[in-house]
Amino acid sequence: MTTTHSAPGKIYLFGEHAVVYGKRAIASAINLRTTVTVRESARMTIASLLGTTGIDYAVHPYISRCIESLSVPAVSIKIDSEIPVGSGLGSSAAAVIATLGALNSEFDLGMSCTAIAEAGHAIEREVQGAASPTDTFVSTMGGTIMITPGASPPVSAKLRLIDCDIVIGDTREFSSTKELVGDVGVLHERYPVIMNPIFDTIDCFSEIGVPLIEKGDYRGVGELMNINHGLLDAIGVGSAKLSRLVYVARDAGAWGAKITGAGGGGCIVALARGVAADSVVQAISDSGGHAIATSASEEGVAAW
Ligand code: MEV
Repeated sequence: MTTTHSAPGKIYLFGEHAVVYGKRAIASAINLRTTVTVRESARMTIASLLGTTGIDYAVHPYISRCIESLSVPAVSIKIDSEIPVGSGLGSSAAAVIATLGALNSEFDLGMSCTAIAEAGHAIEREVQGAASPTDTFVSTMGGTIMITPGASPPVSAKLRLIDCDIVIGDTREFSSTKELVGDVGVLHERYPVIMNPIFDTIDCFSEIGVPLIEKGDYRGVGELMNINHGLLDAIGVGSAKLSRLVYVARDAGAWGAKITGAGGGGCIVALARGVAADSVVQAISDSGGHAIATSASEEGVAAW
């Protein structure tokens, strides 16, 4: 038998890094997806852009862990993705969740959506060291959602889907979430009295952001995103390239623009609508970034 599942990538409106310290975050699934096809096979193979391997923790750590954690028979797995790798858009979570979804249905494992999201989160933690539940829960559930890490399950609210244009600016510089989370951890250990209030402030964006999102007040959401960007710079995950893309996006008419994900390299996200969104795309391209115009997606993991 053959089964294909697909799962979305995500952007953070607010809360990356602080969410690792238990603070709230708001993220949205986007219309960039990873598709995984699973086929029963005599030999275990994993094929992706990175190459074709068997169980291989150097090349395919996430998928290898998915297969081993579910103890399923040999399969051939093919991964196709629209989500740039190592860019802060949740490419590894989308691959994990689509793989778990496909294996669940191929072998009738009876896992619920919450069980898939929890298993995905455990796999991300095992492979990366530290990981919040954001990427795996958003990729499983879809939509625009508030994450409260301590709660069970951590998705505390499904919000009104962001319905303006979402423009991503990719610096095309690889960013290692593990390293950046580690760097922030060093600052946190060294200066807890400075870092904790910053995380507390970032937590407030999610609270103040909810009514703005519910009203579709993207000017207000954008204003908060701009402040959140400043705080991400403050905790050391910014870069000259990221800030350049943020500022050209704002100058071109975005309501707000900020780093999305771990930072260091990777992507920025900007909110705009219509002609302004076209100008933001152009401005990002003119500044040497790779612009991706997308939108929010209500669809989480699904048979494809
Ligand atoms: C990475 O996309 C976002 C971080 O907050 C890490 C995490 O949430 O696991 C930096």
